[in-house]
Amino acid sequence: MASFLQACVRVHTKNIIHNLQIARQQAPQARVLAIVKAELYGHRINQVVETIEKNLLDDDVLGVTDLPSAEKLRSLFKHRRLLLLHGVFNQQELTSCINNNIEMVVHCPNQIDLLSSLPQKSLPLLWLKVDSGMGRLGFSSLQVESLIDKIKALKPHCLMSHFACADEPLSPLNEKQKKSFASFKKRLSKIPYSSLANSAAILHQLTPMDSDSTQYIRPGIMLYGGFPNNMSQKNSIINTLLPTMSFEAPVISLKKAHKGMTVGYGADWVAPEDGYIATLKAGYADGYPRALGDKAQVFFEGQYYPVVGRVSMDLMAIYLHPSSYQPNAFPKIKIGDRVELWGKNLDIRQVAEKADTIAYELLTQIADRVPRFCDD
Ligand SMILES: Cc1ncc(COP(=O)(O)O)c(C=O)c1O
Repeated sequence: MASFLQACVRVHTKNIIHNLQIARQQAPQARVLAIVKAELYGHRINQVVETIEKNLLDDDVLGVTDLPSAEKLRSLFKHRRLLLLHGVFNQQELTSCINNNIEMVVHCPNQIDLLSSLPQKSLPLLWLKVDSGMGRLGFSSLQVESLIDKIKALKPHCLMSHFACADEPLSPLNEKQKKSFASFKKRLSKIPYSSLANSAAILHQLTPMDSDSTQYIRPGIMLYGGFPNNMSQKNSIINTLLPTMSFEAPVISLKKAHKGMTVGYGADWVAPEDGYIATLKAGYADGYPRALGDKAQVFFEGQYYPVVGRVSMDLMAIYLHPSSYQPNAFPKIKIGDRVELWGKNLDIRQVAEKADTIAYELLTQIADRVPRFCDD
């Protein structure tokens, strides 16, 4: 357990598994490529990935973007299918993938050249990525035409692409991308599997979900309870996803505040009334955004308290207004208590919005120095 002097993260593993089940229910016939990149979107602990792995089916896959993470996963799971989402860039990386039985995405001509030098029987399972409209990784239709023989010789296992605007279900680009993907599929009809849906596409059913047994769905952020911000709260599936991380900070000082006193760098927050200031040991070096100074709240035992003054590297302050405790009594918060910065009582998506960012960024920017614990 963390010393009370440290900020910490509690990971709610059961909620990740719940969210995985929700993803599977959307596409019961599909295989699942569970995205566990960036150390499980900042959640980190091995125990969590072990639990996710146990809840996958035999043909499901774990996906990461860098080779060291894939190698680490291979050391944890001898038999689990693993996919390197950005593929390999030199012979050494290719050799490691082959030796570790790691599948890879092929998205550019250099990778085709690297793989074409291998005898057919040593080829790993390959996922051919085409660019249907994201404009970053993936072959264009012109490239596919010019490389068609080489591509066919590699016998890719899965044809994949990525939506640019899946979190905006009405964006015309979604239809355009689906059409473009369908024409790639037609041209490369021998590729047995296909994969297009990330969390937003799964939640918005942008691709046919219920009956397709030749697709892989690719849930990422939805596993971690921070699905895209601008989705309608009325969507009932979204409301069944659960938060998977609580970020907590300890109170290390509690002092009386008198009306007119200022708090923090720049002295730009002024106490409107007498009350208390609790100083928390967490700051932007822990991954709590500086942009949240004077904007966010924290939660403790049924009550919300405003963050006041600027968030600094290691500290931030909250204001205990007199209405938050009994007159002539001490506030409920004491030194050593841990308050929630986001988690079960403070929706990370709303906190992210206040910081003008997205939950993905908050989750993955929690610092190394912040210990993570499983709390179930
Ligand atoms: C290729 C690919 N598929 C799926 C995902 C998961 O996306 P999300 O976290 O939005 O579900 C990612 C993440 O960026 C990705 O790169």
